Amino acid sequence: METKMTDETLANEAAKPSRLVDARGRGTKIEFRGEEEFHACWYPVALSSEVERGSLIGAPFLDGRVIVYRTSDGIAHVRSAYCRHLGADLSVGRLVNDTVQCPFHFWRYDVAGSCVDVPAGDPPPPYAKLFSYPTAESLGLIWAFNGETPLHPAPHFEQSEAALVIEAYRNPLPMKVESSIVFLNSFDLQHFRVVHGMPIEVDLDRVTEHEHTLGYEARVSTPEFGEVVQDRRLWGVNTVTIASETGGRKFYQLHSLCPVENHATQGFLVSATPAADFAEDDSARALLAQSREYALRLVNEDAPIFDTLSFRRDNLTASDRFLAFGIQYIRRYPRAHPGRELIR
Ligand code: FES
Ligand SMILES: [Fe+2]
Repeated sequence: METKMTDETLANEAAKPSRLVDARGRGTKIEFRGEEEFHACWYPVALSSEVERGSLIGAPFLDGRVIVYRTSDGIAHVRSAYCRHLGADLSVGRLVNDTVQCPFHFWRYDVAGSCVDVPAGDPPPPYAKLFSYPTAESLGLIWAFNGETPLHPAPHFEQSEAALVIEAYRNPLPMKVESSIVFLNSFDLQHFRVVHGMPIEVDLDRVTEHEHTLGYEARVSTPEFGEVVQDRRLWGVNTVTIASETGGRKFYQLHSLCPVENHATQGFLVSATPAADFAEDDSARALLAQSREYALRLVNEDAPIFDTLSFRRDNLTASDRFLAFGIQYIRRYPRAHPGRELIR
């Protein structure tokens, strides 16, 4: 069901005078997640290019660790990382006939996560099962859904991937801050102008909420691309996709966040443009390079500030109306942690 962001949904601390804060206190800190829970989102865990057919890597995920591997049919899988025997990290093991072989006593696990072979001859114990995260692959990224069943499809652009030139890469900067705080950057209209030199206008009455995504149009002026109209879509509470046009050419960007141990965040970025818009592949690559430079400028400008942030109740002002909505949106978003016992 599609709903509009209404004044009612916006009724929040930004619109009210502060009651809890006075000159002597900073206000109550906003915690975005409990100790034991994360949001039920699609999280990027690896670049597609990092996981070749028949290979397996380990990746930090939520408050633990997963393995990411690709079977001979080309399909990627994300499973809890620790062997159910004595807990060896399976990323140190290898793939044998599409099964994950533990490096320690060579127990093997099939794609359903079940142990199917104990070389010592014992029957595989019934509990010997890895946690299987729903896994998807799109836009050069491998995604794991934090839940038993995905709430919506994995992030994608409106145009089919087959028609796009795509570049996916990691944000090289470590972010020692919760992913929710990084995600709120999209709602923080004040900071775009002053931190990024990018005045931005969003018609808050036209923000629409639809099946765990939010959509809105932003009019942005950037030093790199001039005045552009961006079609922004927020997926879950960790991914932003942006479609815009420059010089008559469409281009897409994605910034997605994966929570990792110690309340830190790993960012992944994607730039894409339709191959058909370019006579020469090289000029498509030039636009992607420009888009990458632009995205890295923004994350570089934000990075030193992110690590210092802590959000407090009642400290927002009228210009923070969209930010206040974002805080509420994150706080009411569904949570889950079904792999909790097996990924750490
Ligand atoms: S620890 Fe994995 S098989 Fe023993
Ligand atoms: Fe920013």
